[in-house]
Amino acid sequence: MAETKRKNFKSRLAVLRKFFRVMGIKPYHVIIPIVLSFFVAAFDGIGLGLLVPIARGIVSDFAFVNEMPVLKDLIAAFPQVYAMTTTPNKNTFLFLVVLVFLATILKNLFLYINSVFTAYWHGIFKYNVYKFIFNRFMSFGKLFFDRTNQGYLVMVLNYSDKVMDLLVLFEKSVERIFTLLVYFVIMYMISWKLTLITLFVFPVLYISLRAIIRKIEEIAKFRNKSFIELHRNVFNILSCVPLVKAYSREEETKLKYADLNEQLKRYDFRTLRVYRLMEPLQDVIVTMVMLLMVSIVALLLAKDKPAEISVFVVFFYAARKVLPLFNIFNQIKADFMQAKPPLKEISKIFDDKDKFFVVEGEKTFEGLHERINVTNLVYGYTQENPVIKGMSFSIEKGKTVALVGPSGAGKTTLISLLMRFYDCPSGSIFIDNTDIREFKLKSLRAHMVLVSQDALLFNDTLRNNLVFGLDRKVSDEELMEALRKSQLQNFVKNVPSGLDAEIGDKGLKLSGGEKQRVAIARAFLKRSEMLILDEATSSLDTPTEKNIQEAINEVIKGRTAVIIAHRLSTVKNADKIIFVEEGKIAEQGSLNELLERKGKFYEYWEAQKFY
Ligand SMILES: Nc1ncnc2c1ncn2[C@@H]1O[C@H](COP(=O)(O)OP(=O)(O)O)[C@@H](O)[C@H]1O
Ligand SMILES: [Mg+2]
Repeated sequence: MAETKRKNFKSRLAVLRKFFRVMGIKPYHVIIPIVLSFFVAAFDGIGLGLLVPIARGIVSDFAFVNEMPVLKDLIAAFPQVYAMTTTPNKNTFLFLVVLVFLATILKNLFLYINSVFTAYWHGIFKYNVYKFIFNRFMSFGKLFFDRTNQGYLVMVLNYSDKVMDLLVLFEKSVERIFTLLVYFVIMYMISWKLTLITLFVFPVLYISLRAIIRKIEEIAKFRNKSFIELHRNVFNILSCVPLVKAYSREEETKLKYADLNEQLKRYDFRTLRVYRLMEPLQDVIVTMVMLLMVSIVALLLAKDKPAEISVFVVFFYAARKVLPLFNIFNQIKADFMQAKPPLKEISKIFDDKDKFFVVEGEKTFEGLHERINVTNLVYGYTQENPVIKGMSFSIEKGKTVALVGPSGAGKTTLISLLMRFYDCPSGSIFIDNTDIREFKLKSLRAHMVLVSQDALLFNDTLRNNLVFGLDRKVSDEELMEALRKSQLQNFVKNVPSGLDAEIGDKGLKLSGGEKQRVAIARAFLKRSEMLILDEATSSLDTPTEKNIQEAINEVIKGRTAVIIAHRLSTVKNADKIIFVEEGKIAEQGSLNELLERKGKFYEYWEAQKFY
């Protein structure tokens, strides 16, 4: 039990250290606020401490001040003070009041400097957390994104704010703890007995507020779940609006959203209801202790000691101010409990579990010399369910390989492995006898270009979508040439803004075929030695496809190409056709060989003849 507790604490500490590192917190970021907070508390204490001689002097006489250790020297240092008026009593009083005023000014000056410094640093820390999380996202494997809702990811990114809340809390606490200490010293000097009694408040507050904090923690967990659910829902709906409309689910969608919001509102209210209970409870407890102390003072001190009483007034003033500060630990805990679930979500981004990183090799890929060899490749998205069940084939340099087969056979998975979107087992894909896992990802991908099944486009201009990922400057002529090859020249002519036309989220302002053609044009511009087309022309009409096919044939001349297509007219020029079925290679060979064999591919071919 104790062992696991210690372990828990240790791992929490490790997470906290990581947070500090990510935020870029240096020792001086901690030391400076602590030093400044110390000054704030010290001057606050000096102002308060000076009330003691003032109170005592008012009821009797200020002569004793001339005997007090530090004040005596101060007064001696300013002999002019005594020339101000003819009454020394009044002079001392004025002198003390000026000192209180100065102490207040200095306290607030340090307070201001401290808050400006920390506000400036918080800006930096916050940006560092955002940057870190975003950079982490970029390092995760594709499979992570296949499995994680994007609404959730945006939400986690915005949870960075919560880390800052915690930091502000920490800084406030440092200031409060110093104030607490300084006030205690003064109170202790006035009466150590009463000070000991005030200490009782501490455990009483702690114990009576414990239940509240536990409740806050519990609600915070539910709230986090509900918050995640809400974000997921919004993202899902917004990315499938046409579907919602087509099935007339607007009302249901609204209801669901309202429902989730209602839930969240309820959690927020419940938290607040409990949280706000802390202050009145604390007030009642503190007042009770105060009353107890007043009674004790009244009992202990005879009525004939007004000078003593006046000092106790200062004591009560200090106690009144300091007792609510006792709640600081409860406050920290309550706020921390609320920030805990968000912090947990962020720490999930910190750890490497289920991030599906693709291992990065050491070697720089310089280009294909002979062939890519796939040997007995087995791959599954989950352990239990292999999608590719032992495939072996080769892709010769400068040749075109066509992958044909029913949908769901594993064709896209295969090329995703070639592109290193997913990590394949070692010893299953070789490029010129070097395991593909040994290459640096960037060097490998510099030599490959992929036109994927779902033409991916940014919400940006046509031009920026075309030049995305190109390291060289591209002239308008070259862009137009690529567009002409991919049969898009008319589109550009008909749109007034031409190359600078905005094409919408994921290219939504374009038709399916136009999107595919933009993706093809982008691939034409990259001039990589290996070209991979995954059903790149599936949304095109036959004449357009025919025209593009000519351009593709032109482009792949002398290059290595892998083409996935359902229309057999597209693949008939390939040097090798691989027929894939249920994660296995059913047949492979040239078109003529396969047709002569009259096997699976032949059936496929025959079935398509009449379309
Ligand atoms: N990201 C993924 N996570 C889990 N399963 C997947 C994923 N992508 C594809 N699959 C599964 O792998 C199988 C092969 O898919 P895929 O390679 O896309 O087939 P094809 O491209 O031949 O149509 C399918 O059964 C599909 O359900
Ligand atoms: Mg596919």
